[in-house]
Amino acid sequence: MGSGKAGFEARVEQRVRANLALLEHEFTGYDRLAARHMFSEFCHLETIAVMAAERGDAIPGQLEDEHVHHETFRRLADQHGGLVAPCEEVARLIDYLTSLEGEASLAALNVTAESWLETVFDHVAGWGACDALMRAIEEDEERHVHDALDLARPPAAEIEPIVRDLERMLEAIAVAPAFMLPLIRFAGEQRVCAMGEALCAAHERACAHLGIASRTHRVRLLCRSQRIWSRRAPVPMEMTDWDRTKQRIYDRNADMLLWFEIPTAVNGYRLQAQVVAALARILQREPRLRYVTRRGELFRAQEPIIAMRALYDDRAVMNVFLPGCHRLTWRGVLRQMNRRVKRARAVEYHAMPPMPDDLDKLLPPSRVAAAVNFNGVHGGIGGTGPLSDVEGIPILVTIGEVRAGRVTLTILMDHRTHDGQDIGLLKRELERELT
Ligand SMILES: [Fe+2]
Ligand SMILES: [Fe+2]
Repeated sequence: MGSGKAGFEARVEQRVRANLALLEHEFTGYDRLAARHMFSEFCHLETIAVMAAERGDAIPGQLEDEHVHHETFRRLADQHGGLVAPCEEVARLIDYLTSLEGEASLAALNVTAESWLETVFDHVAGWGACDALMRAIEEDEERHVHDALDLARPPAAEIEPIVRDLERMLEAIAVAPAFMLPLIRFAGEQRVCAMGEALCAAHERACAHLGIASRTHRVRLLCRSQRIWSRRAPVPMEMTDWDRTKQRIYDRNADMLLWFEIPTAVNGYRLQAQVVAALARILQREPRLRYVTRRGELFRAQEPIIAMRALYDDRAVMNVFLPGCHRLTWRGVLRQMNRRVKRARAVEYHAMPPMPDDLDKLLPPSRVAAAVNFNGVHGGIGGTGPLSDVEGIPILVTIGEVRAGRVTLTILMDHRTHDGQDIGLLKRELERELT
């Protein structure tokens, strides 16, 4: 093979083909959707590495390697439905790194960004989805990360603000659905959390090398809480013919509706706490009411976690999760509600992220089987969804206006997960608990 541009291109082409031959099988179904997005994002991230190699020129063979990686991922995305644009969070990281100049940018690219990539690929190579292929790429990355340690170290004052920016961008990517959902599809939540923790450790080592402090506590906290949360994952249920028929004939918004009146001596938050406590107890003793659905399959939530619809500011509605309410009196639930709503309002509002290209199909089933909505202050009676597939909560109980010692409760129930029997059962049980 010759030298010069043509020789370079021929070598890249040969190596790309060798990499592609390592893919044991083509992905199908939802795996194909996940593969399309995962390989697309990896392809975009490799543009960072290409940039590092073009600017650095200090690590032997890196430029060729990065072109090989970039092209391998691009073709893999093509094979699985076509390359998609990078998600907002990844695009922001690429734009930021592109805009950097000088010696500090080299360290940011070669020491920090490369060590992230190496860690991610190392983990993906152990998930049983495309191990041989990812291992081949990871071996190159490992060498780059090792050789980058010999590069000149920029003054700490110069690199530190850049690393702070990078940490914020890493946090954003860690919660970006378009980036994380495909990984969760292949690895499960536990292994993705392990990858997150390894990323923090790699970042801390890179910072130590650069002689600066690292701030990974927020990502570490996220991994820890996600790990605990993942232990509560709903369990798959065996489906009957009728269950499968319902998934076919009912649309995602085919909700059953039932409303009824009960006497009440209280109103407002107290009434909401009573309804949450009653609902949690009912869901605890009636496993059938803890069913949720995802991708046409049925699951059962392990425990009755209730979501409370609360206002974030004047208008925005958020779900606040209330676990363990079946063990509390309504006063305990009220305390829990106050604490959690306050905490949720103290953090930045998280808008429902866009889910293009059916990405919502990759969401894990909801841990939360029922939500409570309070609409009484505005004179409303019935609640509205969205009992959407993104939210995934199949039961919504809405508390209406209290008038002359009576209140209307409205139940909306997803017909893909439940039947008329279930909505009737929930109504009777709520009446029994609340009167
Ligand atoms: Fe690479
Ligand atoms: Fe690399």
